[in-house]
Parts: sequence; C-alpha cells; structure tokens
Amino acid sequence: MATIVETVAAMRVLVAEARQAGKSIGFVPTMGALHAGHLALMQQAKKNCDIVVVSIFVNPTQFGPNEDFTAYPRTWAEDLAVCRSAGVDAVFHPPARELYPDGWGTWVEVTGVTDKLCGRSRPTHFRGVATVVTKLFNIVQPDQAFFGQKDAQQVIVLRKMVRDLNMVPEIVMVPIVRDEDGLAKSSRNAYLSSEQRQAALVLSQGLAKAREMAAAGEQEPAAIREAVLSHIQSAPQANVDYVELYSFPDLAEIAVLNQDVLLAVAVRFGATRLIDNIILTPS
Ligand code: PAJ
Repeated sequence: MATIVETVAAMRVLVAEARQAGKSIGFVPTMGALHAGHLALMQQAKKNCDIVVVSIFVNPTQFGPNEDFTAYPRTWAEDLAVCRSAGVDAVFHPPARELYPDGWGTWVEVTGVTDKLCGRSRPTHFRGVATVVTKLFNIVQPDQAFFGQKDAQQVIVLRKMVRDLNMVPEIVMVPIVRDEDGLAKSSRNAYLSSEQRQAALVLSQGLAKAREMAAAGEQEPAAIREAVLSHIQSAPQANVDYVELYSFPDLAEIAVLNQDVLLAVAVRFGATRLIDNIILTPS
C-alpha cells in the first residue's frame, strides 16, 4: 500500500524511519500522466533498492512562458493505481506552494551541457529541472535516483550537477520504453491527433536507419544526420527543431563516429513537441 505524502515534513519523517531501519531508498521523480516508461523506472528502483519513493509534481519552473504547463495532463487517480501496481512505498505529491512558497528564490544552474539540444530551444528548462531535482533530492535523500534515457540530456545535466555539487544520489539511466510500433512513450503523446501519431513514427524509424548506417560502417556524423533529417522531413506536418549528434556523455562536437555518440531529435507536430534519441556505440 503506497503512502501518499503531501508535505516536506511528512516526507522527512518517512525517510528518517527508513534510514533508521537501515533501508536503502530508490527515487523516481515524475510529473505524472504515468505510462509504461515511468513504470520501467519504478521496476528498476524496486530491483535495486529496499524502499521506492515516486514523486508526482508538475514543476512550473521548468516550463517556458509559452509552453504547456496549464495543459499538461494531470491524471492523479490513474497515476496512483500505476504506483500501487508497481509496489511503490510512498508517493510524494506536494502542492506547488509546498515546494515554491512565497519568497522562494534560489536556482541551480548547470552550465556547458545545457546550451545545446533542448537547452537551446528551451533556454530556462534545465534550470527548472536542476532546481526541482535538487529540492527533491534534499527532501527524499535517495541512494539512487532513476531517470529515462528518453530525456538523455536531462540525465547528462543531472549527472553533472550531482558531480559538481557533491551530491550523494547515484543517477541510474533506464532504457527508452516504446509502443509496439516504435513511438517512444511520452505523456505528451496524448496531445497527438491520430494522423500526427502515425506521422510521428518517422522519429523512431529515422533513428533505426541511423543505427543501421552506423552498424554498416558509416563513420560520418553529417551523412547520418542528413539521412535522419530527410526521413523525418518526409512526414506530413513534421517541423524539425533539431537532429544532432554529439559525444555521449560530454555532448562535445564530433568529427567521426569513433566513440559513444548521442543522436537526438526534436520534432513538432502541430503544437506538440516530441523528442527521441539513440546512443550509437562504435562496433
Ligand atoms: P517526466 O516527463 O514525467 O518523466 C519522468 C521520468 O520518466 C524521466 O526520467 C523520463 O526520462 C522518464 N521517461 C519518460 N518517458 C519514458 C520512456 N518512454 N521510457 C523511459 N523513461 C521515460 O522528466 C521529468 O518528468 C521531469 O523533468 C522531472 C525529472 C520529474 C523534474 O520535474
């Protein structure tokens, strides 16, 4: 039975009790609208840790002024059922004023790896993510925290933050969970019309094409980028934000595919922005 926790004070009591009992804590931060991708994180946390805490909090500070904070899907009853089915021990579900009370004003800003990919299109996004994750880490004090490769840049940014600020939690990256036809699971898929959802398959198809090219010996980042871009642009309504390759995990420019490389894409279908990626490893 998952305990629902709405205040920082109550969360601290639960954490102290777990610590007293010598239990390790696994933490899965989410914004709700839970799906099989989130479930995979919970399952990994269950495997690795004695106690699993999931947070469900639509974090206002990581949304830009013209983004979908208000429209973001909120499905509390279903989310709770998912957490219970996964055997989660506690669900932290604070109201916004609990994390951002009047007079709040301290930010965590990670530099370098935040100025490209999603950081370029969403300039204040990672500052909001790093800030809320720091707050959540301070409240939950996990041994391990679980994040999806779906948001690979988020993992890179948070690993850098943990290292730079000497934080305790280990960031564990969990593979991307996809629908059967390849579309990466996302809370934002709910915004897509059926035509857009069909068209959106070009993302995972483009990435699969890149994987084949790399496996066949293609070494040129530009050739791979071009192939993925033209496949994505063949879809109706696809408005490409970026198709880019960088070294993983440093996000440095690369001239040749001779190391782990992150190939990441962001594409708009109407007002809905989808992201996907793969990590290409040298054969
Ligand atoms: P949210 O978008 O709810 O995602 C929560 C976690 O689920 C993230 O680590 C994300 O990478 C992971 N996830 C989403 N879709 C996935 C998929 N298809 N396969 C595997 N993992 C997937 O990311 C956030 O929330 C927020 O930025 C947060 C970290 C909670 C801070 O507010």
